[in-house]
Amino acid sequence: MHGYTPGEQVVGCTKLNTNESAVPPSPAVLAALAALEDDRLRLYPDPRANALRRVAAERYGVTVDHLLVGNGSDDCLTVLYRAFLAPGERVAVPWPTYGLYDDLATLQGSEIVHVDYRITANDWLLPDSLARQGAKLTIVANPNNPSGTLVPVAELRRLADQVEGILVVDEAYVDFAGRDDDGTGASLIAHLDAHPNLVILRTFSKSYSLAGARLGLLFAHPELVAHLMKVKDSYNVNHLSQAAGLAALEDRSHHRQLIAVTLAERARLETGLAALGWTWPRSAANFLLCEVGPRAKEILDALKARGLLVRWWNRPDLVTKLRITVGNRADNDRLLVALREIAG
Ligand SMILES: Cc1ncc(COP(=O)(O)O)c(C=O)c1O
Repeated sequence: MHGYTPGEQVVGCTKLNTNESAVPPSPAVLAALAALEDDRLRLYPDPRANALRRVAAERYGVTVDHLLVGNGSDDCLTVLYRAFLAPGERVAVPWPTYGLYDDLATLQGSEIVHVDYRITANDWLLPDSLARQGAKLTIVANPNNPSGTLVPVAELRRLADQVEGILVVDEAYVDFAGRDDDGTGASLIAHLDAHPNLVILRTFSKSYSLAGARLGLLFAHPELVAHLMKVKDSYNVNHLSQAAGLAALEDRSHHRQLIAVTLAERARLETGLAALGWTWPRSAANFLLCEVGPRAKEILDALKARGLLVRWWNRPDLVTKLRITVGNRADNDRLLVALREIAG
């Protein structure tokens, strides 16, 4: 099998290739870590992360029993695959999307079914036949990675009603969907109770700037969560990350500010990229999937030579595109200067 290929990490390079946040995490996170007592390392962590679940439940308007905490949302995905997919059973995704959905299917011995997005100039639309794939799990990243495009809540609710199995909506980037500071208008969390087969994933890696802590949240019907609890590793989230997540959730104003800065920088980056004649589908995330043409790989390499990493895939459906994460002001300026030299 091929394993998942994580985005490159090159010391000294500016990472605009894995959609991390360009803004540092809340200072309250570092303070919470500094204040930890040594028992917190000597003893095992709370296996269910109950303190974090309580704060998250209040923050998102659900009960503690609707929540499972994962070692990144990738861990939540692993738990879902293990729980729901026997060898040979199907998982369906609209395609192209986040590559890990494929790799986990391979590990599980299950079959992955790709149903192509309907791609228009500005948008990627959900394929009509997605619900009819006989899949135990159907997964939609919303906003989608790598396109950054957003499917409306009403459409996903319809899909939840149509699929026979579980619908997983991976909302890793929904906080950037622009309606408010926590993606409420674009998120399915408020509709959880209406759909017992719905699972929603969130991560602290993007809008909370905690990719290094590895922390994700899974929201679902309490009965479903109770089953998933049996499947996860017992101590799947270390105490430091639980404390970091709790402090991050409590600092609402930092979260709002991080999102506002990211959206303002996204707009600036868009203006600069448009001046190069590049196009991309409308993004509801902290990255842009730019159509660059046959020179995409050459531009990727030239950027790397200047210390700037962006993402490119050597696959027919993405080969002419570069995915660029919104950086901070200085990173974006450097990127635009470099691109004007290389591609202008
Ligand atoms: C759609 C999507 N889901 C999940 C993840 C991984 O999130 P985490 O860092 O919480 O494992 C990513 C990371 O890029 C992603 O793009």
